[in-house]
Amino acid sequence: MMVSYCTCERFALRDILSWARAHDTTDLTLVCESLKVGRRCGMCCVFIEYALATGQPDVPYPCPPIPPVAEPAAAGR
Ligand code: FES
Repeated sequence: MMVSYCTCERFALRDILSWARAHDTTDLTLVCESLKVGRRCGMCCVFIEYALATGQPDVPYPCPPIPPVAEPAAAGR
């Protein structure tokens, strides 16, 4: 099963990602407050956070751990 929506607000993760890209942010709190998602039951927040971290609009249920951010390559090596 995949999670693709904040079901309480009927707001697609795909649309949330589009908004986040347009506003150059991956900040969960900013996204949720701006779009009014994740504020009722809150169960979608972990999926929105995963989507923001990975860019995937369809997130497996249960939500997998967020992959660690790759370290930038050391300069001059
Ligand atoms: S599923 Fe998003 S607030 Fe309930």
